[in-house]
Amino acid sequence: MRTGIPVVVLLFGLGVAANVAAQCPDTTGWAAIARASRADHQRMLELLGIDRLRPGPSPQEANTDEARVPPYTLPDPLVTFDGRRITTPREWWEVRRPEIVAAFDREVYGRVPPDVPSVRWEVVSTTRTVQDSIPVVVKKLVGHVDNSAYPAIEVHIDMTLVTPAEADGPVPVILHFSFVWPECMRPPAPPPGQRTWQQQVLARGWGYAELYPTSYQADHGAGLTAGIIGLTNRGRPRRPDDWGVLRAWAWGASRALDYFETDPTVDARRVGIAGLSRFGKAALVAMAYDQRFAIGLIGSSGAGGAKLLRRVFGEQVENLASPAEYHWFAGNFLKYAGPLTPDDLPVDAHLLIALVAPRPLFIGAGNPEVEGHWVDARGTFLAAVHAEPVYRLLGKVGLGTDIMPPVGELLARGEIAFRMHEDGHTNGPNWPYFLEFASRYFEPDRNDQ
Ligand code: GCU
Repeated sequence: MRTGIPVVVLLFGLGVAANVAAQCPDTTGWAAIARASRADHQRMLELLGIDRLRPGPSPQEANTDEARVPPYTLPDPLVTFDGRRITTPREWWEVRRPEIVAAFDREVYGRVPPDVPSVRWEVVSTTRTVQDSIPVVVKKLVGHVDNSAYPAIEVHIDMTLVTPAEADGPVPVILHFSFVWPECMRPPAPPPGQRTWQQQVLARGWGYAELYPTSYQADHGAGLTAGIIGLTNRGRPRRPDDWGVLRAWAWGASRALDYFETDPTVDARRVGIAGLSRFGKAALVAMAYDQRFAIGLIGSSGAGGAKLLRRVFGEQVENLASPAEYHWFAGNFLKYAGPLTPDDLPVDAHLLIALVAPRPLFIGAGNPEVEGHWVDARGTFLAAVHAEPVYRLLGKVGLGTDIMPPVGELLARGEIAFRMHEDGHTNGPNWPYFLEFASRYFEPDRNDQ
């Protein structure tokens, strides 16, 4: 069985559900998926011995008033869980970073099983064509996951790689978590006069890859017994510390990077990862866990991504723990919307950003007046502020300030860039800024001139 691609479910969170409903017949069995997700959510609560969870606020009810954000205390990035101060890079790498990773594994995103089967990449087709007047090579790729231990579940990773045909050597590549648009809908076109991000990447002489994460792990709780998570569990439901969907999506990005290491047209040391919203969360998880990714564009990732979970503003842990979103996380994460609170979390988003250090990261959001406050752009900025001590310890500047720039202004003094663009829930207007930022690292010689 191939993992279904529940497009309608995926698009619900993207605010285009109304369009889908209007334009597409419901062939996905959304109601059955929602029922099965609720049942699995309930099963996990029973496993954890939790009677009930606190409900999260709706986007209309969520706090959007800075004056009403209660004070909170964040775990110090440079103090170990047992209270020892970290003062050297070596202590960071050998003591503090591993314990932070372990805490995210156990309590937030879940553990990747030690025996995930290997992936064999197949180049399904190679086509020479022209995109935006640039001769390119388009490779359709499928990563076949070895399912010999449990043939009832098949898992295939879908990806398309586009590289300039006339490049002198291996090129940088931007790996993008992409949505699968239903046939009845078209992806939104860029505003007139604006180029797509793909065109912008090619115009720099770089390549891009579109990775389709729902090809290997569905975006709902009903799918947790299939896809890569289901395969490693041989079709059984998850235990409380098993990986959630964000970690699975990030795993697929790492397998894509494995492929790039074998493709002579790609410079695997210059691969950036990009995503928006839930895929922005996944891109940040990929950056944090796999140090081979050179740079990231983390767009409007919100709660569960770059936003501080302790901040009572916009989306809350209680929302993430609901049957609609809990599958992104380990089962253990549900505890923090039940008997425990977000203040009990051993980690928060600043520590996820700290795991990226000393590598560069571009954190973006829309204009809160246009995008809405659900994403909590300020909570995202503050998470980056609190990751600063780790960048400093490793000899770099992170944001380099704790003053948040206004909408439209780029902050890029150090290794963490931040920009709220003027539009809504999209990465669109931030792409030129991200690519310029990335060129500092990918083409340092050109930047010196
Ligand atoms: C919902 C969800 C967010 C998520 C978004 C998306 O709004 O609450 O956490 O980022 O969907 O992925 O579109």
